[in-house]
Amino acid sequence: MNCLAPSILSADFAKLGEQVRELDEAGAQYVHIDVMDGMFVPSISFGMPVIRSLRPCSDRIFDVHLMIEEPGRYISEFAAAGADLITVHAESCKHLDRTVESIKEMGLLAGVALNPATPLSAVEYILEKVDMVLIMSVNPGFGGQKLIPYTIPKIRQLKKMIDARGLKTDIEVDGGVNLENVTEVMDAGANIIVAGSAVFQGDLVENTQRFLDILNS
Ligand code: DX5
Ligand code: ZN
Repeated sequence: MNCLAPSILSADFAKLGEQVRELDEAGAQYVHIDVMDGMFVPSISFGMPVIRSLRPCSDRIFDVHLMIEEPGRYISEFAAAGADLITVHAESCKHLDRTVESIKEMGLLAGVALNPATPLSAVEYILEKVDMVLIMSVNPGFGGQKLIPYTIPKIRQLKKMIDARGLKTDIEVDGGVNLENVTEVMDAGANIIVAGSAVFQGDLVENTQRFLDILNS
């Protein structure tokens, strides 16, 4: 099944809870939550208290994308705040295997994210242990950027790698996805689609429904 993961980075933070409820009611299956520390990426976004406050607003999958240095330091805190799925960047973990293990020990789903220029070999040995691989289709740090075209063949390559091993690992794609290019992204093999500006610019309910129509077709 294809799922939509609206990124709340592009939400109106003054109405955050309300908008998360609206996304839920419109049928988006995930809430994509971008945590940034100003070190791994230039921006600082929000952290555990915001996630904790949003938790009562929706039972959808809280998909926490950690763009922070050494995220292993905070796994139990994000679990306690209400994360269902925690994704860490291969580039930000000295001990990626240990960090993934600690996410699994919390009983959560574990994802590994790769920046555009990071080769797929970074997940070669850990693929069997993870529930999801997140392919960044922009350089992380900001919403509203343009998808980098070479990430499309990268998605296709990852899908091949997953199928060749008989795995069911989810492929999430994040950055610059819109109603015009989402079909190409799915055709390449992605099944969890992150969209920030394309959901929140304009009517978020209408945009969510448009995405879901394409995802379900
Ligand atoms: C980028 C974040 C994305 C971002 C996507 O660093 O990880 O989740 O919010 O926003 P759009 O869809 O606008 O590129
Ligand atoms: Zn993200």
